[in-house]
Amino acid sequence: MYKIVKKEKFSPVTFLWEVLAPDVAAASQPGQFVIVRLHEGSERIPLTIADFDKKRGTITLVVQVVGKSTEEMSVLPSGSEFQDLCGPLGIPSHIEKRNKVVFVGGGLGIAPVFPILRAHKEFGNHTVSIIGFRSKDLVFWEDKFKKYSDEIYITTDDGSYGRKGLVIDPLKELLARDKGVDEVVAIGPLIMMKACADTTRPFGVKTIVSLNTIMVDGMGMCGGCRVTVAGKDQFACVDGPDFDAHQVDFNELMKRQKRFAGKEKQSWEQYKHECELKKAGKI
Ligand code: FAD
Ligand code: FES
Ligand code: MG
Repeated sequence: MYKIVKKEKFSPVTFLWEVLAPDVAAASQPGQFVIVRLHEGSERIPLTIADFDKKRGTITLVVQVVGKSTEEMSVLPSGSEFQDLCGPLGIPSHIEKRNKVVFVGGGLGIAPVFPILRAHKEFGNHTVSIIGFRSKDLVFWEDKFKKYSDEIYITTDDGSYGRKGLVIDPLKELLARDKGVDEVVAIGPLIMMKACADTTRPFGVKTIVSLNTIMVDGMGMCGGCRVTVAGKDQFACVDGPDFDAHQVDFNELMKRQKRFAGKEKQSWEQYKHECELKKAGKI
């Protein structure tokens, strides 16, 4: 069993868990993920290691409620325990000497960007962060980003905080005026990562994205996470999750991501119905 030592709510649908897992924390590297199972028989939930503290023996997960399993996670209080944690999985992000690296995080994608940003900064690279949210009430980890960023730009879709607009607006301007940028790391919704790839392509700047494809085993055996990169089949769990954004077939991936939508909707509705019955004392 694994203990949630801290829980923090960022918004009605986003929250953080700090989990006691000394072996996983000791082995964790930026860009890797874990697979969580809440209880015997429940589904496997892949989640990025958003932070790790090797001294405390903990890893941090930042989660957005999008369906049944993430909703089940959201109601577990600090101090409670869950069944399984498997990891760290995936190839760690590649960190090397760079002139200037730009980190683009969209919404919850900000959390997985963080350990990669910190690793580049600790390596001595000049770091620029562009973090974007739908609105001011969803902003989180601004302080953590400021600590490791030489420059930071914040955007909100509605203009309630920072600059109004999308993350690709400051990204485009930056690339146009600063020829020193030699890598962009972009993590967020698929549509945002695709837009970042389209923005950086004309500038010829290497761009890395982390792909949250549908994963089942997370060990290269089920084929669930297949993605086409540079015309070849790749498995995001073992060949990624980081890939060259300019080589990813995003259109295919967006279609594949929706392939269980009917069943996912059904299981969330069933779960919510059962919760209501429990609340009313009917089951
Ligand atoms: P469901 O109703 O089952 O699904 C809702 C949507 O979530 C689906 O349409 C699909 O797009 C996605 N999804 C569902 N099952 C899976 C699955 N097994 N693998 C991947 N995506 C799935 N989410 C976070 O909130 N924080 C993270 O740090 C995070 N990191 C991830 C890292 C990796 C490597 C991967 C592959 C996914 C990550 N995700 C993360 C996505 C997270 O796994 C899904 O949101 C979660 O499994 C949804 O479960 P659900 O039952 O609540 O929703
Ligand atoms: Fe099964 Fe990647 S999740 S092959
Ligand atoms: Mg699910």
